[in-house]
Formats: sequence, structure tokens, C-alpha cells
Amino acid sequence: MSLNSPTNLAERYVFLQAELARLEHAYYVLDNPLLPDIEYDRLYRELLEIEAAHPEWITPESLSQRVGGVALKEFDSVTHEVPMLSLNNAFEESELVAFDRRCREGLHADHVAYAGELKFDGLAISLRYENGSLVRAATRGDGASGEDVTANIKTIRAIPLKLTGKNIPKVLEVRGEVFMYLQDFQKMNQQAAALGDKEFANPRNAAAGSLRQLDSKITAKRPLSFFAYGLGALDPQSWLPQTHEELLNTYVELGLPVCSERRVLHSVSEILTFYQEIGAKRDSLPYDIDGVVYKVNSFAEQAKLGFVSRAPRFALAHKYPAQEALTTVLGIDVQVGRTGAITPVARLSPVEVGGVTVTNATLHNEDEVKRKDVRIGDTVSVRRAGDVIPEVVSVIKDRRPIDAKEFVMPLRCPVCDSHIERLADEAVARCSGGLFCGAQRKQALIHFAHRRALDIEGLGEKIVDQLVDQNLVRTPADLYRLGFTALANLERMGEKSADNLIQAINASRNTTLARFIFALGIRHVGETTAKDLANHYRTMHALMDASMDDLLTVKDVGPVVADSIISFMQEAHNREVIEQLLASGMLLAVEEKIISAAVAGKTFVLTGTFPTMTRDEAKDLLEKAGAKVAGSVSKKTDYVVAGTDAGSKLTKAEELGVPVIDEAAMLELLK
Ligand code: IVH
Repeated sequence: MSLNSPTNLAERYVFLQAELARLEHAYYVLDNPLLPDIEYDRLYRELLEIEAAHPEWITPESLSQRVGGVALKEFDSVTHEVPMLSLNNAFEESELVAFDRRCREGLHADHVAYAGELKFDGLAISLRYENGSLVRAATRGDGASGEDVTANIKTIRAIPLKLTGKNIPKVLEVRGEVFMYLQDFQKMNQQAAALGDKEFANPRNAAAGSLRQLDSKITAKRPLSFFAYGLGALDPQSWLPQTHEELLNTYVELGLPVCSERRVLHSVSEILTFYQEIGAKRDSLPYDIDGVVYKVNSFAEQAKLGFVSRAPRFALAHKYPAQEALTTVLGIDVQVGRTGAITPVARLSPVEVGGVTVTNATLHNEDEVKRKDVRIGDTVSVRRAGDVIPEVVSVIKDRRPIDAKEFVMPLRCPVCDSHIERLADEAVARCSGGLFCGAQRKQALIHFAHRRALDIEGLGEKIVDQLVDQNLVRTPADLYRLGFTALANLERMGEKSADNLIQAINASRNTTLARFIFALGIRHVGETTAKDLANHYRTMHALMDASMDDLLTVKDVGPVVADSIISFMQEAHNREVIEQLLASGMLLAVEEKIISAAVAGKTFVLTGTFPTMTRDEAKDLLEKAGAKVAGSVSKKTDYVVAGTDAGSKLTKAEELGVPVIDEAAMLELLK
């Protein structure tokens, strides 16, 4: 690349646009990054510098336009040249058999081939490309006309601003779904929660809310994605391939993202197999789907079958049972988290949702209860997806009993009776009790003893409950003063386990500075930040005395994190606990990274049981050598290390062609 990169500025600019587009496509569409992020950033900055010197060169397709522009007052209306229709739904096998029969009869054919694909749970969008450039994007609206959301759509990096390849029609309207990956959604909600901002109920709402922003700079910060699945206006018509399947393959060549979970199906039995296979995978897919879609594959046959009212006769959505169900709210309690956050929780009449019995659902915070207007006695719709905590989606107002009771945020903590307070700019109410609050103390101790913190085996919830309730332990420092008799007297604790626990507590003194910092449970300081802080400060006292300005120089530490560290360290009792812990003989090692060339910068995924070490130990070894360890397999994964009983991650690796190695081979790489 650098060999033939031009030096003339105008040429360099054109080169950068093409190169950055190629990198974005590899990253966001192919899920296969070509360069480290930092290299991308460098080229992107260079582009911005050139544009600053030559604003007259900037076109609407410049990748710099992805950050969003001036806020709109309202969206313009766009009339769809080809209307955006909806799909007929089926739930039963019999409806599917009838659909196939109608298609065969309508076409006077013995067999019909269908394109099977996923029904994404997002928002339909129409992208208009003229001579390969994205000129307009519109929502479905009422099907005849929608809203012009071009500025927002341009911020979605999976959507090319320019099509690639040779055979580009004059006009091409690509139809597809804007959605959010579950991982991105969860991360976004966690960040929102940490900042006290509004959280979204589910990825669909998050995608919809983000796309309807009048300020595209806000949309640009939302992790939206896109899959293409259909066609609107086209000119010339002769460009059209023979089949839907070929159209999607052509889309891939044009640089558009198309979901790879698709297949041509030749019979009702193949259709059912597809439905069942996708159904079995549904919970492990990285995005929400609510069904699969079958479309008659041949466009000539589609045209012959035509439309009934607002849906095509040639397509059918086959839905899965809902991951939502109705039930009644028996009561609304509040829970106290480690940082004192008070979360209202709906106690529900038990209901089965997607195969799991749900009895509690989170209501997130007070505003959320008000916004959804959930009252005790209400019938509500409850939703669960993947391993996310079940939540109340909405209230069925028609079914509200006259004696339904509104939720009132208690004034005092249900655990310690301290005042509950809510800062003006936060959505979350907190117990002001701090470590005086039993609930917070318990959570703090459980966190302190966590496997990835001080790793005190045997100090589980049941023991912590007793230790705190009997006032044997108030702070983590008290753990190191516990005597054998006190422990052995606890319920369900024999002499042997008391002895083991004492040993585990003693052994935990020999730890790392990073683990120790993480174990303190400072708000916003997760494991990674703790590692960065340990590397930067090298001793606990240096961190305790760090100034705001200095904290801000640490990698990935922003004002929110820095502020949280400062206020934690300003608290006299926190300093006291730290001093007591240090005085009890903590050995806080600062780990030097021993970078191993074979694994540095590589991404590993660990699965199954390893012969000589736990997955956590393997993770630490790899990270120390400069590797990254991720939780799920993608094309970006360099190696999957599989032990015995490896499950879906191994299958996924094999599907994607990611190299799979065993523990021994991993250790070999680490040498
Ligand atoms: S095709 C003429 N394909 O479902 C048919 N739609 O009820 C036009 N959807 O508004 C739609 N995945 O938001 C089609 N693979 C897929 C889809 C899909 C999700 C949504 C889309 C549309 C609604 C139709």
C-alpha cells in the first residue's frame, strides 16, 4: 500500500478516500479488519487534515461526513417510487404448507424454489443509490411515503456511501433493515446507565430511537448496523438478475452487507428444516430476529404471483414464538446494588417466556417506571432475550384494575434505612448509606472476593450474608482479621471448610496491584481500567494521591472515571480501609507484560475445559503476553483454544475457518 501511495495532495486525498472505504468495508461488512484501529485512525486524521486545508474538495460521499452534520428541525417526507410493503405472517406449519400450495398453483408448477432468510427485528429502510452514490435514505413510513433520514443513515459505517464493482445501475434502491447487534446494545445501555442516561428497552427500540434523531451527530454515536434484503426502484430494469439469491450475491459484490444466514430451499421439508435450524440458533445469534422469511426465488415467478392488498403473494414471514408474554405485577420492590443504586423490580405472577419461567423483571429506574406508567396490579408485557435480565416492556392499559397502585420510590433504603437520594442530573437513585448499608457492604465484599478480583475461593454469597448480618465483617479489611472459631461457628460451615476459607483469605494477600484496584469496587473502574491504572501508577499510594490532571493522562481514563476515582479516594473511610488492607500484609505485584511476538495483538477465544489450567488462568497468561481474549467467535478471531466439552464456539470457529488449537499448542505459542 505505502509503495504506490501517491504524494501529490489531491491524489493522496482520492487515495485516502478509497483506502478508508476499503478498510471500513472490511471491518463493518466483512467482519474482517485489515489494519489495527490505530492505523485506520492515522489515515482518517490525515484525511481530515487535507479537508481542513481544502474544504472545497469535500463531497457528500467523503467518509468524514459519517460524523453527522447540523441538526434538522424536522424530517422531509419522501414518496417511495416503489411502495414498501409488509409481509404476511405465519405461525403454524399448516399455514406454510398452504403458502407453498398457493405458490405452486399460481405458477402451475410442481416445485417452487424459495430464498430463505432471517426476519430481522429492526427498522425497514430504503437506500437510493444514483450512479453508485448514496443520495437518499428513507424510512418505510406508511409504505407509500416515509421520512428522509439520509444524514442519519450516512453515519452507519456498514452502509457504503459509494457502491463498488463494475456493474452499477443508474438508479438502485436497496431495501433492508437497520438494527443493533446485541453486544453493542448492551454496551450502549451500560454506558447510559453509568452516566445516568436513559436506557432503551430493547435493541429494536434503540435502533428506532437512534434513527429518528434530528441531530445526526447523536446518531453517529449509536452503534447501528444494516443488512440488505430487497429491492425498490431500479433503472435500467435490464440490470435485474434472475433470482433473489443472485440479487443478494450481487449486493455483496457492490459492497453492501448481506446476512450470510441464507439458503435456497426446494421443498416444504427443506423450509421446515431451515426454520428449525435457525430456531435452534436463535438465542446465540448476535442480533434479534423474530422469524424467518421465504421469498419465491425467481423474479419472473414473483411477478406472476403479484400482490394482495399490501403484501406480496410470493413471500411469507414464518415467526417464532414470542420472547414476550403477558402477566400481572404483584408488587414493585427495590433492590440495592453495590454502588447503592436503587433499582425498582417488578414481582410478577410467574409466566413462561420463550421457555423460561420469569418471576421478576427489572424496571431500571424511577423515570422508567413513570414513563411506562407501570402500576401494581397492572397487566404487563414482559420480555427476555438471550441472557439479558427480563424486563417490563409495556403496560396493557385496557386491563388496568381500578385499584392499581402507583409505585412510590421509598425515601429510605429498605436494607439500612439511610436516606435515598437522587442527584439532579442522574436517573438513578442511590442509598446514601455507603458501606454502612448492609446490602452495599455485602455486594462490596462479594465483589472484593470475586475470582477476577482478590479471588477468595469459598467466600460466597451465603457466607458473606452471615458475616455481615452477624456484624463479624464490615469492610474487606475485617476479612483478614477473621479467626477460625468465628468462621467455624457459621451455619453450614464445618471445621474443614472454615480452615480452607482461612487459607484462601491468607493466600489472597499475594496478589497484583491491578486485581487489588479492581477489588475496591470504585465506580466505573472495571478490570481493564484497573490494569491500566496499575501499569501507570505502580503503587497503591501513588494512585491514592493522583490528581485529576494526572489521572486524565492514563489510557482510556476520561473525566467520569477520573472523577469517580478522586471522590472514592477523598472519602476518609475508604483510605482507612485501604491502609488497613495494606498493613495486613498485601503483596501487590505489578505485572510486567512479557510480550510474545507469536500472540501479541492477536485475538483468542477460549472454550471448553483445559487439561492443566482454568480458562481464567489461560486468559491471564495470554493477556500478559499481549494478546486479547474475547468472549465470542467472529472472523476477527485469530485462534480458538478448545478444551474438552467445547460447544457452540468451536462449531462457529469451524464454520468461519478460524484456526482451532488445544492448550498445548497455545502454550507452545506463548513460549
Ligand atoms: S422483505 C415485500 N425481508 O419485516 C416484502 N422484510 O413485514 C418487503 N423484515 O418492514 C419486506 N427482515 O422491516 C423482508 N429478510 C427480510 C426481512 C424483512 C425483516 C421486516 C421489514 C418489513 C417487515 C415486513
